[in-house]
Amino acid sequence: MEIKTVGVVGAGQMGNGIAHVMALAGYEVRLNDISQDALDDAVARITQNLDRQVSRERISAETRDAALARIRTTGQLKEIAGTDLVIEAATEREDIKHKIFETLLPDLGPDTILTSNTSSISITRLASRTDRPERFMGFHFMNPVPVMQLVELIRGIATSQETYEACLKVVENLGKTAASAEDFPAFIVNRILMPMINEAVYTLYEGVGNVNSIDQSMKLGANHPMGPLELADFIGLDTCLAIMNVLHEGLADTKYRPCPLLTKYVEAGWLGRKTQRGFYDYR
Ligand code: CAA
Repeated sequence: MEIKTVGVVGAGQMGNGIAHVMALAGYEVRLNDISQDALDDAVARITQNLDRQVSRERISAETRDAALARIRTTGQLKEIAGTDLVIEAATEREDIKHKIFETLLPDLGPDTILTSNTSSISITRLASRTDRPERFMGFHFMNPVPVMQLVELIRGIATSQETYEACLKVVENLGKTAASAEDFPAFIVNRILMPMINEAVYTLYEGVGNVNSIDQSMKLGANHPMGPLELADFIGLDTCLAIMNVLHEGLADTKYRPCPLLTKYVEAGWLGRKTQRGFYDYR
């Protein structure tokens, strides 16, 4: 199972970062999105991030050009079905993810490995609706993808050792580090990170501190690179809420109850940086 071509579904914040690091590592990348604007924005973002790497002398201009030449965009999902490895990085909604895999199925190559960059949804459940649960696993990057060192590899109940090893080799080729996680709600990183963020929102909700004092406390008092509310805005409050709901429903424990203030922000459409407003105002 040697991976040479990678299909990325979804050209948003995660998808464009995944396409960037894959192309830089020498993989032929096909990047798919239903929106042509999203594809154009993704190529612009990847170019900008590669240019910055050139200006910092991390990579040469030739390396940048070769990486960009390895990325092909497409609005057609079936054009990525023949790649060796598909990474689904669409919106964090289970119905959308099932639909993507169902649409891909008829055209899939026999050996294609299917993966999802989901931050919390059951890999076993996603795999069960495909024809290849043994060649299906979680491939979870952290944001911003070009900077963060970790990739969580999550085995569903049926994932084969061969699939795991093929994905591990890709992570190593990217120069990143894999953490192996079992398939339980939100895996490792978000099982720990999201309750911390949710608790920060409760700390705000109960008036224990304000936005600045909470973030400053965790930056200066616990050496976190970003405060928890700033990080929530960076990840997206809708994503944070979706992950808390997965934890709450999946583990049936009130300690994972999403803070009502988090729900209220999401209902207001204040989703963080991507909507210019969250705990901070970016307008
Ligand atoms: N895309 C690409 N590169 C980026 C970037 C982005 N969005 N943001 C920053 N960078 C690069 C910068 O270019 C810079 O590169 P050089 O070292 O080559 O100069 C480097 O990252 C550091 O950036 P800055 O100096 O501008 O800023 P910083 O030192 O404050 O670091 C940060 C920025 C890396 C984002 C840092 O604040 C950080 O690590 N924050 C925490 C991020 C985090 O926790 N991510 C995980 C989120 S959880 C998740 O992703 C899982 C999930 O499922 C929700």
